[in-house]
Amino acid sequence: MPGSPTHPASGPRELPGTGRSAVVTGASSGIGAATATRLAAEGVVVGARRMDRLTELAASIGARALPLDVTDADSVAAFAGALDRVDVLVNNAGGAFDADPVAEADLDSWARTYEVNVLGTVRLTKALLPALIASGAGDVLFVGSTAGLVSYEGGASYTAAKHGVHTLAETLRLELFDQPVRVVEIAPGMVRTEEFTLNRVRDRDRAEAVYRGVRAPLVAEDVADCIAWALTRPHHVNIDLLVVRPRAQAAQHKVHRE
Ligand SMILES: NC(=O)c1ccc[n+]([C@@H]2O[C@H](COP(=O)([O-])OP(=O)(O)OC[C@H]3O[C@@H](n4cnc5c(N)ncnc54)[C@H](OP(=O)(O)O)[C@@H]3O)[C@@H](O)[C@H]2O)c1
Repeated sequence: MPGSPTHPASGPRELPGTGRSAVVTGASSGIGAATATRLAAEGVVVGARRMDRLTELAASIGARALPLDVTDADSVAAFAGALDRVDVLVNNAGGAFDADPVAEADLDSWARTYEVNVLGTVRLTKALLPALIASGAGDVLFVGSTAGLVSYEGGASYTAAKHGVHTLAETLRLELFDQPVRVVEIAPGMVRTEEFTLNRVRDRDRAEAVYRGVRAPLVAEDVADCIAWALTRPHHVNIDLLVVRPRAQAAQHKVHRE
C-alpha cells in the first residue's frame, strides 16, 4: 500500500556492523543450537561441555566450537583466552534440575541450578565484558525465562535462579549506561526442547506430560528468531526485555490443553 511502512525482511538478517563475532553458550542443544544456526552468517563461536554435539553443529553451520563449562573458572578463562574479538554474547547455558516444593528442597540441586544459571552467566559475562566494550557496538543477551518474572509451585530452585538472571541483566544495563554495549533479556515461556524438561523431571513420561494437549508450544527456533530480531535492530535500539510465550500459554498457570 502506498505510504505504508515497509516491513523488515522476514529471512535471516545480518547483525549490525561488519565482521561481527557472536558467542553462543549452551549451543550443544535446544535454544542455543538454534540461535547459533540462526546467527551463522556472522562469525559464531559455540561453547558447551559436550564437544561431540558441539563439533557436529559447528561443522554443519561453519562455526567454531570450543569447550566451555560456565561453572568452571579455568574453563571460562581458557574459552575467553581463545577468542580474538567478541561483539555479541548470548548467555544461553542454563537449565532446571528439579520440580520439588520448597518443603522438600534438595540443596544440592538448588546450588547446581544457581551455579549454571547465575554464577556461570556472571563468570563468562565478566570475562568477556572488556572485549564487548572494545567492540564499540557490543551486545550481551541473556536467555532468561518467564520463570524469572513469575513464581510457580514446585519451581523455586529455577524461578529463584532465573529471577537472579533478570536482576543481573537489569543491573548490568544500568552499570553500562555510558558504554557502547546493549543489554537484552529474552524471557521465553513454554518451549519444547529435546532436553530441558527431561533434565528437570528425569522421566520421559513426566516430561511428555508437561506438553500434553498443548497444540503448539514454542520451539527453539521461535526463541532464536526473537534473539536474532533483538540483535539486528539498529544499535541505538535496546530491547530491554522480550517476553515470548506460545499462544496457548496466556499466563504461567493458564495453559490451554486440548
Ligand atoms: N525449554 C524451556 O521451556 C525454556 C523456557 C525458558 C527459558 N529457557 C532457558 O533457555 C536456555 C536453554 O534451554 P533449552 O531449553 O535449550 O535447554 P537444553 O536443551 O537443556 O540446553 C541447555 C544447554 O546448556 C548447556 N549447558 C548446561 N550446563 C552447562 C555448563 N555448565 N556450561 C556450559 N553449557 C552448559 C547444555 O550443554 P552441555 O550439557 O553440552 O554443556 C545445553 O546445550 C536455558 O537457559 C533455559 O533455562 C528454557
